[in-house]
Amino acid sequence: MTSPLTDLTAHRDVLFVGGKGGVGKTAVASALALDSARSGRPTLVVSTDPAHNLGHLWGRRVGDDPVELAPLLRGLEIDPGRTTDAHLAAVRQTMRRLMPEHLQGEVDKHLDLARDAPGTHEAAVLERLAEVLEQRDRDELVVVDTAPSGHTTRLIALPELMQAWTEGLLSRQERSARFGAALRGLEGDRGEQAAADVVGFVPRYGEQPGDRGGDRRARRDAEIRRVLDRRQERFRTLRELLQDPDRSAFVIVLAAERLPVLETVELHQQLTRSHMDVAALVVNKRSPADAGDLLAARRAVEEGYLAQLADELPDLPVVEVPLLPGEVLGEEGLTELARWLRGAPA
Ligand SMILES: Nc1ncnc2c1ncn2[C@@H]1O[C@H](COP(=O)(O)OP(=O)(O)OP(=O)(O)O)[C@@H](O)[C@H]1O
Ligand SMILES: [Mg+2]
Repeated sequence: MTSPLTDLTAHRDVLFVGGKGGVGKTAVASALALDSARSGRPTLVVSTDPAHNLGHLWGRRVGDDPVELAPLLRGLEIDPGRTTDAHLAAVRQTMRRLMPEHLQGEVDKHLDLARDAPGTHEAAVLERLAEVLEQRDRDELVVVDTAPSGHTTRLIALPELMQAWTEGLLSRQERSARFGAALRGLEGDRGEQAAADVVGFVPRYGEQPGDRGGDRRARRDAEIRRVLDRRQERFRTLRELLQDPDRSAFVIVLAAERLPVLETVELHQQLTRSHMDVAALVVNKRSPADAGDLLAARRAVEEGYLAQLADELPDLPVVEVPLLPGEVLGEEGLTELARWLRGAPA
């Protein structure tokens, strides 16, 4: 018996695994990745959830640099703090060169605020994900274990928001020559949005228009344009990848319960609106029919919700995974889960 998931891991470049908290996203992402690696395809499983548990599941430390989890399988937990810090350090250095001594305490204060500003971490996650996908080896599958639903859809929409932001900045470019000094800090490879978040306070301290000769300003403007263009290109590439159904797909994991079903329908709508291809649903932790009255009764209730799901999303393949007796932990637990994801008889 084959499963639609096998087809996805074989033929797409990036799989996003999403859903509500605790449904089994990390376990499903890891099991799909393990299965892909065992089939001979190099695979990277990446966690974008700030509350990472890839490391717990695999019983080893996983960090912001890839570690080997099994033959042909690597794992990585995105650390937005690291991306943000690296970037703020670059901005700080630029500002130190430009600012009078007595204002440097204030610069530090603003940069510290920028680190905790809303959106900074999400933007850093996206930036790092873009980098990971840019560096993806040919033929490699990347499986992304995402944070619970709301966060995920924002992540998907972010390239568009950022593109709008960048375009706005480009069109204001004549008025924003003063941004030049700070934007030189954007040259780093990581966390550019983090610096963008602090750019807002720069004009108060930066060069004033007319301070310098026209030639110099023209050069500086060209430099700003180059930096922004490159950044915009990076987000455009990422968005194109996410929206290409030949390369990317989204898998929603859920439990057969009332709220998860409603939220899955909503998440499906949001993703479809963002032009992401939702390619399969995994209904996890199904109650067994033959393990006592209580679980049999629960299973009957679940059937009702599955019927509702089939009604609302009629064309979507559904893979069912039973509630497993043991914990899904380490390679052994994941092997068992992978067997079900491949379509073991329910
Ligand atoms: N089919 C299953 N049978 C039994 N236990 C399972 C099954 N799938 C997952 N689990 C267990 O459920 C718990 C939650 O799984 P997991 O951490 O993968 O969920 P998650 O969606 O990533 O959670 P979070 O939203 O907190 O990141 C784990 O202890 C995992 O071992
Ligand atoms: Mg998780």
